[in-house]
Amino acid sequence: MAQSARSASLWAVLTLLFVLGWCQASAIPRVSFPLGSPGRSLTQFASPEVGNTTTLLLSSDEDTLFVGARDAIVSLDVSEPKAVALKNKLDWSPTEKDLNDCAMKGKKKADCPNFIRVLQVLNSTHMYACGTFAFSPRCTYISTETFSLVLGPTGKPEEGRGRCPYDPYQKNTAITVDGELYTGTVADYRGNRPVISRHLSEGSHVDLKLDDTLGWLEDPTFISSSYVPTEEKVYFFFSEVGREYDFIDKLTVSRVAQVCTSDVGGQRTLQRRWTTFAKAQLLCQSQGELPYNVLEDMFTLQPQEGAPDEDTLFYGIFSSQWSVNSGRSAVCVFSLDDIKAVFAGNYKVLNRDTLKWSTRVQEKVANPGSCGLHNASDNTLRFVKENFLTDESVQPSGQRLSMVSPDYRYSNLAVQRVRGAKGKNYTVLFLLTESGYLHKTVLLESGPHIIEEVQVFRQPQPVKSLLLSVSKAALFVGSSEGVTEVPVANCSFYWSCAECVLARDPFCGWDPSQRVCADIASIPTNAAQDVEKGNVHEKCKAASLNPRSGLAPLRPPTGELVPVSLNEVVRLQCPEASRLARRHWERPNSRLSPELYLQQDDGSLRFLATPITLGHYLCLSVENGFQQVLAVYQVKQKSSSSGGGGGGGGGGAGGGVPTSQPGSAGPTRSTQGRQPPSTVPRRTEGKAGRGRHPPPPPPPPPSSSTAALSPRETAGVTPRPERNFTFWLNPVLTAEAEPKPRGGDAGGGGGGGGEVAGGEQQLQSTAACYLQELVVVSVLLVLCVSVLVTFGLYGVRQRCRSRTAPQSCSRRDAERATGNGNNAAGNGAASTPQERESLKGSPRDAKRNGQVQNGQVQNGGKSLCNGVTNGSNGHLPNTPI
Ligand SMILES: *[C@@H]1O[C@H](CO)[C@@H](O)[C@H](O)[C@H]1NC(C)=O
Ligand SMILES: *[C@@H]1O[C@H](CO)[C@@H](O)[C@H](O)[C@H]1NC(C)=O
Ligand SMILES: *[C@@H]1O[C@H](CO)[C@@H](O)[C@H](O)[C@H]1NC(C)=O
Ligand SMILES: *[C@@H]1O[C@H](CO)[C@@H](O)[C@H](O)[C@H]1NC(C)=O
Repeated sequence: MAQSARSASLWAVLTLLFVLGWCQASAIPRVSFPLGSPGRSLTQFASPEVGNTTTLLLSSDEDTLFVGARDAIVSLDVSEPKAVALKNKLDWSPTEKDLNDCAMKGKKKADCPNFIRVLQVLNSTHMYACGTFAFSPRCTYISTETFSLVLGPTGKPEEGRGRCPYDPYQKNTAITVDGELYTGTVADYRGNRPVISRHLSEGSHVDLKLDDTLGWLEDPTFISSSYVPTEEKVYFFFSEVGREYDFIDKLTVSRVAQVCTSDVGGQRTLQRRWTTFAKAQLLCQSQGELPYNVLEDMFTLQPQEGAPDEDTLFYGIFSSQWSVNSGRSAVCVFSLDDIKAVFAGNYKVLNRDTLKWSTRVQEKVANPGSCGLHNASDNTLRFVKENFLTDESVQPSGQRLSMVSPDYRYSNLAVQRVRGAKGKNYTVLFLLTESGYLHKTVLLESGPHIIEEVQVFRQPQPVKSLLLSVSKAALFVGSSEGVTEVPVANCSFYWSCAECVLARDPFCGWDPSQRVCADIASIPTNAAQDVEKGNVHEKCKAASLNPRSGLAPLRPPTGELVPVSLNEVVRLQCPEASRLARRHWERPNSRLSPELYLQQDDGSLRFLATPITLGHYLCLSVENGFQQVLAVYQVKQKSSSSGGGGGGGGGGAGGGVPTSQPGSAGPTRSTQGRQPPSTVPRRTEGKAGRGRHPPPPPPPPPSSSTAALSPRETAGVTPRPERNFTFWLNPVLTAEAEPKPRGGDAGGGGGGGGEVAGGEQQLQSTAACYLQELVVVSVLLVLCVSVLVTFGLYGVRQRCRSRTAPQSCSRRDAERATGNGNNAAGNGAASTPQERESLKGSPRDAKRNGQVQNGQVQNGGKSLCNGVTNGSNGHLPNTPI
């Protein structure tokens, strides 16, 4: 009975882990590089005199990085890789009086300096910059040659109103086209007069702005802007209040707006106003879910060389207004083609009396949004003035979300098309999290795969920017802390063909001739790479024939001798090669019985030292169906007769060392007494590469605490520093034991293994009889506790799932839509039409739906999750099944 109860509880624990694993199998970065990791060295520019370096602009030759900072514009020399040097600094600060005025207006002193928010190349000789200038924005020309502030054609200082926000925390966007400046910002001190306008125009090309009689913008947050030459249009991306949805709560919607660069305004109607302004909603929503409605950043991916402008893609990060989705973000991509089609379609009609929108079909006097209305009649211009909101919304490309991240809030992105092995193109996203990590993600048919995360700043930053230089193969991140240059990849971090392929990094491939993981562009043709599947067996086959490279790490992991005394709780550590790998333990000729062994989440193994449990242990990791040995230990009884904890030197040149260690030609032993902290680097050397893994702090050496009866008691026990460990490599070398360091006086005791063995035998036999009882009792105890914990966790999970259901499965949902479009999990879709309607349909319905939605969505989510648990949906790319 006890048996069945035990197995039942075990089963419960496993099932729980499985379910949790599945439902959390959201994209997590495969490897992580905290700031300062050697595997990902960053180049930083930080200077106490140059703060808030948040506006970035690369010169056309990409050798100089211009940075808009606090009270200054600086130029940095970035021509050399791995070096960012200050070239010039241009001070531009408000006067004492300006600062006093700013303080008088009740602004915080820290917000009164001049924060540069617009920095653009105007023409071959001049740049243009605008700053908040103590809540009284100003602009200036900058001579590129002398790098100094100069006056413009008017000979007067440049007004910054309508070009730059007053408040340094307010978002804005600006772009120059043919020497004219197009901006989206707020044009007043309070921040409630938004404008999209054109400045620096000359001759008949007059400066233009929005007509603000009809509410063309509703409290927008500007995100970005983009110029498409063949269309002669500038597109603005922002989010604003969606007046067409008559919610009680203000509903935020994301938008794309357009203006034509040829626009010169109307002659009577719309004089000095845009005649070509139109806007459309951007939808980032998957079926049966609340939309991701708040745009956070937008990146324009230019078409491939030779492809038409229509292939331009816009990648957006979206978050959600609803708290149920807080902390999540989604990536959606929109094609210029789709945007053009929506702008060419029908427009909504605003009833001037009720201020309500309808989609009434009316006679089309003109095509709103089309260019070339300079000489149009007043009638036509009135029509386009009133028809500026498209009826249709722009759907994401492929009608699906590209990525949903339940765990990370992304704020900035950059996108690159990367040519992988065999000339296949991949889309790689660089996503900056709120907390300062850069996630390099490749978008695949099977879903997104986060190759790595690199920490770029310490504190969350209110204002930051991200700039990608494809030719330099680097990203620049600007924040209050400084400017950081991050290479797009470090292929040499992957030390074996297996690791190189498992990384699934389109930038990297295994070069079989050089036997290195290298930049794919530098390898002729036969690089081993498998971004889609990471199939090591297939890709490293050729390489594995070569003894010096290939599947296994360069050398098989060396065994580490762990001297223990009986009844001790032994804990063996296992390093983490990848967060997507599953680690497990094995003994050469036996399975690990769960009654004796506890395999923990951190990869470590715990057990009580008994005669049965002495011997060899292997920690193996399995990723993508590929298995490799990460660590080998030999647990051996201590020689000391006194049994005093630290005293018993681990000398251990014992005779009966089993030689069953797989992989190595034949174990040799060498003793190397080391103090625990230093065991780590040694292992690094021995194992070519494991030490390159910076992310998890290197595992402490196996710790064993004396006579601890309950595993729990030892949890916090750290090994005593004087403790020695013996490291064995090959029995052949037994004789040449390395000299012992003088580390601890208690340490000594190198040799004399032979006699020790006899003593061990005796101890073992006496201990054995009651030990078994003890083990059984403590295992039972652990199991009881785990059953309780299981139910507890299950409860928590239920609650958590009902809170997060719509999203936790959303990625899958998206993937399902991609994968095969089968709507397997069914009822989640039931809520879809209403959901859609909530954004489309009549305001009243929408509101009702908005409230009812939660319940429906939850159901949908739940069934999806269950569907997944049943294994009906095998799209998760990185989850070993
Ligand atoms: C790449 O990784 C290797 C191995 O960890 C490391 O030695 C090297 O410094 C890294 N290079 C960069 C540029 O991060
Ligand atoms: C660039 O613009 C500035 C300011 O409008 C003007 O003075 C200068 O002549 C222009 N340079 C060229 C090469 O057009
Ligand atoms: C408007 O029409 C007149 C005459 O038809 C023409 O001369 C003028 O160039 C036109 N204006 C624009 C801006 O096209
Ligand atoms: C400027 O930097 C400081 C920290 O150095 C930060 O607290 C502040 O929020 C930043 N201001 C802006 C506008 O980015």
